[in-house]
Amino acid sequence: EHCKGVNGLDKVILREIRGCSAEVYLYGGQVTSWKNEHGEELLFLSSKTTFKPPKAIRGGIPICFPQFGNNGSLEQHGFARNRFWSVDLDPPPFPSNTSHRAFVDLILRPSEEDVKIWPHRYECRLRVALGPGGDLMLTSRIRNTNTDGKSFTFTFAYHTYFFVTDISEVRVEGLETLDYLDNLKSKERFTEQGDAITFESEVDKVYLSTPTKIAILDHERKRTFVLRKDGLPDAVVWNPWDKKAKAMPDFGDDEYKHMLCVEAACVEKPITLKPGEEWRGRQELSAVPSSYCSGQ
Ligand code: BG6
Repeated sequence: EHCKGVNGLDKVILREIRGCSAEVYLYGGQVTSWKNEHGEELLFLSSKTTFKPPKAIRGGIPICFPQFGNNGSLEQHGFARNRFWSVDLDPPPFPSNTSHRAFVDLILRPSEEDVKIWPHRYECRLRVALGPGGDLMLTSRIRNTNTDGKSFTFTFAYHTYFFVTDISEVRVEGLETLDYLDNLKSKERFTEQGDAITFESEVDKVYLSTPTKIAILDHERKRTFVLRKDGLPDAVVWNPWDKKAKAMPDFGDDEYKHMLCVEAACVEKPITLKPGEEWRGRQELSAVPSSYCSGQ
């Protein structure tokens, strides 16, 4: 279903028979809503976001491409999140366990202006699919379509903002004992100690070469998000906490309590594609009552 969203921006709504739904804005190729069968919102979207290009939408699942973060010559997190994507009506076949689901295929190709900023041609595809159980699958395919024989190199992330009831009651499992880079400490390399990760202050870490499954436990709501990823070895964990929240104009002062970014990413080892080569990456999200997966 195609319709107009905030400020007349185009969006696509996906619905699944049991009542789950998702919304995808063509601006940014960005998922902004994912609801379970009870109509509960599972993603965080800031009440202060403007939906006004060229500012990226604050919340949902921004796509960071061709650069994650600020380590490179491009703007922070690249430009895919503030470009207008198109619906791809004739996508090449995707690996087909998504064939019976509600889905939409989007594509981003560079404009002549974009080529001046990043001198490469590419097709950046995104399939957003809602599974029968309400799981949300994002599959990306990026192809080098340069005709000048040049390779290109990029980093990437699905910058997912999970909605949580109370950040101080949240636990992340699957990242214990891993090496990480800490963006708050000039990107030094550390090793995580001990138990599941909990939150009591600002966090901005890139966990390296993580397992493919990460769980985010919302203790208050007795809900567990399970993130599964493929082709995206790293995982970024970010919460701005109070001070940084206040400094962000498109983010409410107290909203940090109700969000956590856990981002399937490829940051440490950038991907290089020769002309004609294609990269694929995928993340699958599900939200289940906590007792299902942790025995609580
Ligand atoms: C995270 C980064 O992924 O995104 C943080 O690790 C950054 O350093 C955050 O602050 C938000 O970025 P932005 O550009 O959307 O404000």
